[in-house]
Amino acid sequence: MASVLRAEGLTFSYPGLPLFSGLDLEIEEGQARVLLGPSGSGKTTLVHLLAGILTPSGGTVFWEGQPVSRWPEERRVRLRRRFLGLVFQHHYLLPELTALENAMLAGWILGRPDAERARSLLGRLGLAERAHLKPEALSGGERQRVAVARALYARPRLLLADEPTGSLDPANARAVLEALLRLAREEGAAVLLATHDERLVEGLPGWRLLDGRLVSLDA
Ligand SMILES: Nc1ncnc2c1ncn2[C@@H]1O[C@H](COP(=O)(O)OP(=O)(O)O)[C@@H](O)[C@H]1O
Ligand SMILES: [Mg+2]
Repeated sequence: MASVLRAEGLTFSYPGLPLFSGLDLEIEEGQARVLLGPSGSGKTTLVHLLAGILTPSGGTVFWEGQPVSRWPEERRVRLRRRFLGLVFQHHYLLPELTALENAMLAGWILGRPDAERARSLLGRLGLAERAHLKPEALSGGERQRVAVARALYARPRLLLADEPTGSLDPANARAVLEALLRLAREEGAAVLLATHDERLVEGLPGWRLLDGRLVSLDA
């Protein structure tokens, strides 16, 4: 199977705070993996390294085999628009736009907005009747689903989700998680989902981040 995301020997420190040294990780085409770890263990930092938002001090991040962490920023950003979708704990939807317009934001940026594509994603997330509403009229779970639609709109190869259900109650968190995993699978996107919530992702394969090391989870 083709490698979508690979980290080799990743090393990173904040000033005075060494976080990782020599981390390895690989996700293949269409795989969904979790990154578990308590608050402060470095999940967000690792996600930002894998997303090319932060640059490692050692080691390399590969997207589909390409050593993007060694590329100049501009070149990496250009590939990121096609390669990667991101979902965060906060939805970051634009308040003046409807759910539909938010879902197709990448379409404006890439210069070919496709309302039918956005409508289809929202429909498959159970939001067909909510597409005309602005974020303020949506529930927390609905907003996160719109953020999922927006992240998958441009058919990324990889979806990175950092505590995407962190601001939801347990029932909504589970529903959003299941919707995210199902839609990503249908779309053929690999997933890395970072969370501190053990129960939410019980039984899913991936890694635990502990004391700067990745330990494989028994799935
Ligand atoms: N920009 C930063 N500068 C310095 N230290 C940071 C910065 N961001 C996070 N940290 C520290 O790095 C550690 C890991 O943080 P983070 O990656 O946010 O972990 P998690 O997402 O697992 O809660 C924490 O001790 C945090 O305080
Ligand atoms: Mg975090």
